[in-house]
Amino acid sequence: MPNLKISLPLLVLVVLHNAAPTHSATATSFIESSCRVTRYPALCVHSLSAYATSIRQSSRQLTQTALSVSLNKSRLAAAFVSNLAKGGAVRGLEYQALKDCIENMGDTVDRLRQSVKELRDLRRTAGGDLLWHLSNVQTWVSAALTDETTCLDGFASRRLDGQVKAVIRRKITLVAQVTSNALALVNHFADKKH
Ligand SMILES: *[C@@H]1O[C@H](CO)[C@@H](O)[C@H](O)[C@H]1NC(C)=O
Repeated sequence: MPNLKISLPLLVLVVLHNAAPTHSATATSFIESSCRVTRYPALCVHSLSAYATSIRQSSRQLTQTALSVSLNKSRLAAAFVSNLAKGGAVRGLEYQALKDCIENMGDTVDRLRQSVKELRDLRRTAGGDLLWHLSNVQTWVSAALTDETTCLDGFASRRLDGQVKAVIRRKITLVAQVTSNALALVNHFADKKH
C-alpha cells in the first residue's frame, strides 16, 4: 500500500499551504487575472497565491514562480515513481510502464530545471536576446509537458489495473496540469515581449 505512506505528508503539505497568511488584494487579483490565460485557472491561482508577496505585479516573477512550482512538483512526482519501482511490489506490465515513466519524469525535471535557470538568467537581458532565451524556455516547457503526457499514456492501457495505475495517473495528471499552466504563462509573457 504505497498509497497510505504518501497521503499523510501530502495532507500535511496541503494543510500548511492553506494556512499561509492572506496577501494584499492587489497582488492576488493580479494572479487571478494572469491565470485567466491558463487551462486550469483555479489550480493556477491556488498554486501561486502563496507567493503573492514576491510576485507583486511582475509578469516575469509570476512566470518564474509558476515554473518553479512546476519543477518542484515534478521533482516530488519523479521521486515518488522511483520509490514505487524500488519497493518490488510492482511487476509485469505495470513495471514496464513505471520504468518508462521514471525516464519521462527524469527528462521533465531536467527540462524544467533548465527553464527555471534560463528565465532567472534573463533578468539582465533585453531585446532580441530576450526573445531567443524565452523561445528556449517555451520549447523546453512544452517538451516537459510532452514527457508527462507520455508517462500518462503509458498508464492509460486497460490491461493495466489497480492501485499503481490510479495513484500514478492522479499524481502525474496534477503535475501535467501545473506544467500546462506554466507553459501558458510563459507563452503569454513571451507574447507581451514581442
Ligand atoms: C522550489 O524548491 C526550491 C528548493 O527546495 C525552493 O528554494 C523554492 O522556493 C521552491 N519554489 C517554490 C515556488 O516553492
